Amino acid sequence: MPQRGDAPRTAGDALFTLPAGVAWPSHTQTVLDHVGNTPLCKIADQRFGARPGVELWAKLEGKNPGGSVKDRAAAMMIMHGIATGKLKPGQTILDSTSGNTGIALAMMGTSLGHRVQLCMSAGVRVEVKQILFAYGADVVFTDPAAGSDGAILKAQEIYQASPERYFVPDQYNNPANVWAHYLSTAPEIWQQTEGRVTHLVAAIGTGGTVMGTGWGLRERNPGVRIVAVEPDEADHGLSGMRHIPSTMRPGIYCATGFDQLIRVSTDSAYDMARKLARQQGLLVGASSAAVLTAAQEVAAGLEDGVVVAICPDSGDRYLSSNLFDRGTEGGR
Ligand SMILES: Cc1ncc(COP(=O)(O)O)c(C=O)c1O
Repeated sequence: MPQRGDAPRTAGDALFTLPAGVAWPSHTQTVLDHVGNTPLCKIADQRFGARPGVELWAKLEGKNPGGSVKDRAAAMMIMHGIATGKLKPGQTILDSTSGNTGIALAMMGTSLGHRVQLCMSAGVRVEVKQILFAYGADVVFTDPAAGSDGAILKAQEIYQASPERYFVPDQYNNPANVWAHYLSTAPEIWQQTEGRVTHLVAAIGTGGTVMGTGWGLRERNPGVRIVAVEPDEADHGLSGMRHIPSTMRPGIYCATGFDQLIRVSTDSAYDMARKLARQQGLLVGASSAAVLTAAQEVAAGLEDGVVVAICPDSGDRYLSSNLFDRGTEGGR
């Protein structure tokens, strides 16, 4: 494990330094204790880029208790908030979210005795809304035309009206989001591949997954190549992912945190989602399919390697969308 004072691995980044005393949350005796340790599933089928010498693995974050990779960031941000006295008893947890972070906060907030208020686009899928209502969260819907930035601005407005009432995890700017992946996702991948991982492929939403996992893997082996994935256009259907050139840049986003950026179209990701379900029995969400599309491209360019793709959530969170609608002839 790195120690405080270790030199940052990349230029100019306090982001890539772990403060003293920060550790992965454990022994909370709540659902938080079951976050992480998600399966790494091998995709051996050559149609997806695997071949002799080139391994392709999918880390299935949908297996977290809240159903997504965001359980990791939420657990770390909440427990760090408690540890630093920023989250006080009786305060409401308030944030903006495209869905999965909200679900994670709602699940964990309720397990720790806090109310949770979330701002999100009214265009969010019905599955997400129903899960949030099931956990008892208060949801403030914002204009879908304003995208995720509209939800961010609404959460800021609510907070500024009475700041003493709220704890805002602020996943876009909270380094605990990055630490979560540095302390959990990276060591898991390292252990699960027995230190053989050569390429990490992960989607950018807040950037927490790419920055934190990439940092932790580079520290174990500076030769690991970190590949970030973003939608190829501003108006995309890859829920949870961010098109950085056209949106507010998250505070935890750092271009030195990855080696390569691959842009994926919504159509190619949706095609991949259907193929994964029908040819591999892997039901993953749209962003996972985008990541595996990029991972396929990475694998195609290798002579040998061990490519790990982080799949943020599962396909059952998208059943009301058109993700699995088309291309059903013969199921393939
Ligand atoms: C479905 C989905 N994909 C990808 C991501 C990207 O994760 P990160 O915020 O760590 O960049 C998220 C985050 O919200 C997500 O919900």
